[in-house]
Amino acid sequence: MIENIIDLKRYPLDHLTGKEGQKLVDQCQLALHESGLFNLDGFLIPDAIKQAVKSSADQLANHSFTHEREHNIYFLPEVEGLAGNHPVLKKFKTVNHTVCSDQIRDNVLIELYEWPPFAAFLAAVMKIPQLHQMDDEISRLNVMGYSAGEALNWHFDRSEFTTTLLLQAPQEGGEFQYRTGLRTDIDPNYDGIAKFLAGDQNDVTTLPLEAGTLNVFRGKNTLHRVSPVKGEHQRVIVVFSYYENPGVAFSVEEKVGFYGRSDVL
Ligand SMILES: [Fe+2]
Repeated sequence: MIENIIDLKRYPLDHLTGKEGQKLVDQCQLALHESGLFNLDGFLIPDAIKQAVKSSADQLANHSFTHEREHNIYFLPEVEGLAGNHPVLKKFKTVNHTVCSDQIRDNVLIELYEWPPFAAFLAAVMKIPQLHQMDDEISRLNVMGYSAGEALNWHFDRSEFTTTLLLQAPQEGGEFQYRTGLRTDIDPNYDGIAKFLAGDQNDVTTLPLEAGTLNVFRGKNTLHRVSPVKGEHQRVIVVFSYYENPGVAFSVEEKVGFYGRSDVL
């Protein structure tokens, strides 16, 4: 039952066209416009957080795929003939442990992902006609764990929006940080980005998130990262993937790259 998963009193996704629902959409749109993101704290109710964490814990500890890679902030392959300080040449390391949706079929998170008003709410906020679930049992929802010393390093997203929900905050570190205004669709600002990557990191915003908070972030032109986790508790987050077109699935190569396998369990 969805009312046992999300706080519908506070966030009436089931009555989006009503007065309160419309107010929520308006607030989220305003926050996206002004800051490039919005947060709904307490979105997942405490019992659902516990259930989500509990039913992914064994998979995270024993059956997750450790995704470790070196990348630049654009996730682009190296280009030859560039100056030594070009941001494409700067390498960062990212490590996380991923559990795919076919490993946690009975999890409340799957129920939330498949509940049509959730995608309808996200579409309404993003002002697009419809968002569709992926046609991909592995990739559509991922639970990611970051252990001590691990991080999602600085990068720009390739998709317009990312929808995540924090399930467990670490004792220390693991903070979401971002820097706006470094580039636009028409100005790549390589010099400014090179300076930032060299250590001139003013104007970084750090967002303390609590477990149960839904976060929608527009990261295509906003540099962002998750700082290294400290302490024995993992940072655990779930990523929901929806697309404007129906029937989207990752290729075999993408799945092997992200998850180490392409066959559904
Ligand atoms: Fe990102």
